[in-house]
Amino acid sequence: MSRMDHELECIGCHAHFPSTGTVYACPTCGELLEVTYNPDELRGAIDLSIWKSKTPSVWKYEQLLPIKPASMKVTLGEGGTNLHKTAKLGKLLGLNELNVKNEGENPTGSFKDRGMTVGVTRAVEVNSHRVICASTGNTSASLSAYAAKASLESIVIIPRGKIALGKLTQAIAHGARIIEIEGYFDDALRAVLDLVKSNQTLYLLNSVNPYRIEGQKTLAYEIWDQLEGDVPDTVIVPVGNAGNISAIWKGFQDLEKIGLISRPPRMIGIQAQGAAPLSEAFKAGRSEITPIQHPQTVATAIKIGAPASWKKALMAVKHSRGMMETVTDDEILESQKLLARLEGLFVEPASASSVAGLKKLVDLGAIGADEKVTCVVTGHGLKDPDIVYRSFEKPAVAKADMQSLKLAINP
Ligand code: F0G
Repeated sequence: MSRMDHELECIGCHAHFPSTGTVYACPTCGELLEVTYNPDELRGAIDLSIWKSKTPSVWKYEQLLPIKPASMKVTLGEGGTNLHKTAKLGKLLGLNELNVKNEGENPTGSFKDRGMTVGVTRAVEVNSHRVICASTGNTSASLSAYAAKASLESIVIIPRGKIALGKLTQAIAHGARIIEIEGYFDDALRAVLDLVKSNQTLYLLNSVNPYRIEGQKTLAYEIWDQLEGDVPDTVIVPVGNAGNISAIWKGFQDLEKIGLISRPPRMIGIQAQGAAPLSEAFKAGRSEITPIQHPQTVATAIKIGAPASWKKALMAVKHSRGMMETVTDDEILESQKLLARLEGLFVEPASASSVAGLKKLVDLGAIGADEKVTCVVTGHGLKDPDIVYRSFEKPAVAKADMQSLKLAINP
């Protein structure tokens, strides 16, 4: 099967551009870009018999990715994460069918690897030797691993004292050049965006890069695949910089354009209460966000006040008849515990916000018992062990003899 040609399209003025070099925003109006394919080519691009014979993974869907067939893929075995049937959790929340897509099973422990395998492969295609990102942690961990695999230099800009230690140590281990800035993720991203405008040798791998979004959209294909050609009624996603919800929606739209589904799921985005510019705009019926200057939440991965892909996310929610909701830190930590103790899934706080949002929306009557729901959980719990140690029960202490152990176990 031959690979499709692709172009870049501006999400604001809809101008089209050839896919050359390192452009991340529309030269005319400054809006974000997305990869587009000819709809007829898209429909003809896949051979279902080949799809059916392969297990899910990002590169299983390479006919629908904007990478040249001859390019060497920079891969660590990403995608193919389990769609867990979580009957106990579903029952507790009042649902007849709940599945959880556990993105913590990716090589560096988060969904970012789906975008990074495609993004770093693209960096090699355009002959970049240095890749860069701003990050709340997971993007930097993922970028530094894929850059190491591809022998590229990686530079990661992080807000000092605001990212989880597990993620920082990943970037250190993979040999990234790490620069800590004073301020928030939003300040780091703004500075990096300015920098890459004046330095074309740096290849930007934040989710404003449309090639990363293409990798992340495969999550939608996998859900369809794992449900044997069906899709849920509702997909719930944690939202920070808003790239992932936009990517997953794009994946479902592809499936609809190809004719594999007749009705895509509604997309529900969940933000932490102290970092919820998108949810606030959605609830107020505003078509623009008001950035939050000092975002606050225990879920450091989504501690973001000015999501770069806010416009794409609002479109995803609107066009899918979905919604945005907020959850408190306590609700997030409670859901983290439920996932760990009922289903054996240890996820980081940001990830648990999708389940916390589901619980809130069922309680509010916005999600019904018969609705088929998939929650995406985005990163592994070991990324941020400190929060568990601080907020959950502490281990008991006992002397190393049988009597003391008996007492400690059955006080
Ligand atoms: N969950 C986790 C675990 C994340 O790391 C992120 C984002 C999100 C959810 C939100 O996804 O930004 O696409 O809406 N982390 C980025 C980072 C910002 O730098 O690692 P989003």
